[in-house]
Order: sequence, then structure tokens, then C-alpha cells
Amino acid sequence: MGLINTPMAGAHLNVVSGNFVTSQPLGVDEGVDYFHGGRVRRVDADGIKRQLDQNNIVLISPLGFSVTGESFSVSSEEVAAKVAVELQADKLISFCSHQGVINDKGEVVPELFPEQAEEYLSRLEEAGDDSSGTARYFRSAIQACRGGVPRSHLVSYREDGALVQELFTRDGIGTQIVRHSAEQARPATIDDIGGIMDLIRPLEAEGILVKRSREQLEMQIDDFFIIERDGMIIACAALYPFPKEAMGEMACVAVHPDYRSSNRGDRLVQQIEDLARSKNMQKLFVLTTRSIHWFRERGFEPVEVDALPMEKQRLYNYQRRSKILMKSL
Ligand SMILES: CC(C)(COP(=O)(O)OP(=O)(O)OC[C@H]1O[C@@H](n2cnc3c(N)ncnc32)[C@H](O)[C@@H]1OP(=O)(O)O)[C@@H](O)C(=O)NCCC(=O)NCCS
Repeated sequence: MGLINTPMAGAHLNVVSGNFVTSQPLGVDEGVDYFHGGRVRRVDADGIKRQLDQNNIVLISPLGFSVTGESFSVSSEEVAAKVAVELQADKLISFCSHQGVINDKGEVVPELFPEQAEEYLSRLEEAGDDSSGTARYFRSAIQACRGGVPRSHLVSYREDGALVQELFTRDGIGTQIVRHSAEQARPATIDDIGGIMDLIRPLEAEGILVKRSREQLEMQIDDFFIIERDGMIIACAALYPFPKEAMGEMACVAVHPDYRSSNRGDRLVQQIEDLARSKNMQKLFVLTTRSIHWFRERGFEPVEVDALPMEKQRLYNYQRRSKILMKSL
């Protein structure tokens, strides 16, 4: 709409469509003839780019044309994924009925790697949902991600403003499927102990972190979470559970000095909080001597020793006098 009293007045945008998708018939599968059902054979990315270069909006319908001149109905998700890959798009955004992927607790899962997404997809399929919009868009998001599109978003068309919220808030409101980056956040394994020690020894020497022996680390390694970059551990944090009190301690939070101030600390807090929630913990606490404000800015509030689980109170070191900060989850 370009009427004089609208914000788009005089914009003269052209919406262009064309035979950008070449298709081939699905043919006959297990005795079923799919007639005019087709699949994408190739996408004319150069043709699309020429239109985009002229500031045209390219509208691609789920229709493909074969070399022999026939038309085929192709799935719109397949077209979207293949076009995104061929254009080397930054993002593929799909609108489905659900607000992305919903976990067993009914919450939206904000981010998934393609292999995690596949697990969810196979669960959906097992539950008999292999043809809903969500399942189909999910499949194309995985396909696009594997083809080199860094991010694919799934948001709901039912929620007003969903797109804006997904793109312009830190966690978004739908689900995004992301490619593995050179940097990977994951639970630690026994092979990571050397790397964790390299990271935390200088901080222990400065008295910023409490000293941990190799044996202690070996025993606690399953509680550790790390960020690895090009084979080096550049950040770590641990979550020690206190199940009786439904509490968790976030400990040994460290980011390598060369990699600070790029939100990695934030990412660690987020990961540990998610992990704590998934273990039904209601409160998370941290003992710190130097990073009090850093944790306060992330929603932790100062509390006294008696707020700690009994076992932790007994171990509290009155000489070190760490500040205790707590957050309800
Ligand atoms: C605290 C720490 C984990 C933050 O890591 P990070 O990756 O730099 O964190 P983020 O990028 O998410 O946040 C950076 C912000 O926090 C601020 N910040 C960093 N350390 C801080 C501290 N000790 N106190 C207050 N603010 C701090 C930075 O100035 C930056 O602020 P800005 O965005 O306004 O510039 C890191 O500095 C570290 O490893 N410190 C030593 C270990 C430690 O103290 N651990 C806590 C005890 S368990």
C-alpha cells in the first residue's frame, strides 16, 4: 500500500515473482503416484539476486517448473530452506502455529543445535506429529542450518509482535536453531581437567578463586560446564547441587582474561540457571570476594550465612569472608 497518507507513500516497491525454482516429480513411491507433487531440483540464486539488487522484493511460491515444462507443487518449507542456502542467507525465519519448540514442561526452548533439534523432531514424529507446520518448518530449519545458514528462527504467527520480540530481545521468544560455532558451550568431561586447571590456576594464585586440587576437580567434573574455543577452554563454571534445600551453588566462575567483556560470563550464568531449573532447584547462590557487583547486576541479592544450606554453612570460611549472593529461579 503506497497511498499518500501511509508511511509507505511513494516507496514504489515492486514484488517480483518468477520461475526461480526448478523442480522434478516426486514420482511413484511404494505404489503411490504423486502426480504433480514435486521436489526442488535447483534454485536460480543469480536470478533472485539480480532482482534483490534492484530493490525488488522476491516472492517465491511453492510451485516449481520442470525442464520438460511441467508445473509441480513443492513444499514451501523445502523451497524456503533451499533458497536460504543458495542465497547464503543470514537467517531463515518461519512462522508456525507454536511459538517454536516446546519442551516437556510446556516451555519454549530458546536455542538448539541441529542435532538437538533432530532429537526433538524425532520425538514429535514418534508422537504422531510429522506433518504439522511446526514439524515441517523444524525440518527445513535443520536442513538450512546444515547447509550453512547460521540461524533459523521459528516463531508463532498467532502472537502479535512475535517477530520483533524474537529478533530484538536477547533470548527471543521463539526457538532458534544455530550452527555450531568455533566456540562451544558444553558440560565438562574428564579430559577437560588440564584445560580447566590452566584457566583457574592464575585466579587461585591471586586469591580470587578458592584452590581446588586435581583430585577435587576429578570428583566434581560432572558439575562443571565449559566454553571451548578452538580446542582451548576459555571459560568455566560449576553447579553444585544441594537437593535437600532445592538449592544450587554456582561456583568457580571464570572467563579467560583475553576473552572477557563479550558476554561469556552472562552465557555461563544463563547456562547454569537453565541447568539448575531443569534440576528443579529453586535458588542459586554464589560466594564471591571480588565480583559482587557483577553478580548483583545479574539479579543476585546479598544474603547472610544462615540462608545457605546447612552443609554449606558448616564449611563457610570466616577468614575468607566471601560475600554470599542468592537468586530465586
Ligand atoms: C566475572 C567474570 C566471570 C566476568 O566475565 P565476562 O566474560 O567478562 O562477563 P560479561 O562479558 O558477561 O560481563 C562483562 C561486564 O562485567 C563487568 N565486570 C567484569 N568483572 C567484574 C567485577 N569483578 N565486578 C563488577 N563488574 C565486572 C565488566 O566491566 C563488563 O561490564 P560492561 O559490559 O559494562 O563493560 C570474569 O571477569 C572473571 O573470570 N573474573 C574472575 C573470576 C571471578 O571473579 N569469579 C567469580 C567468583 S565465583
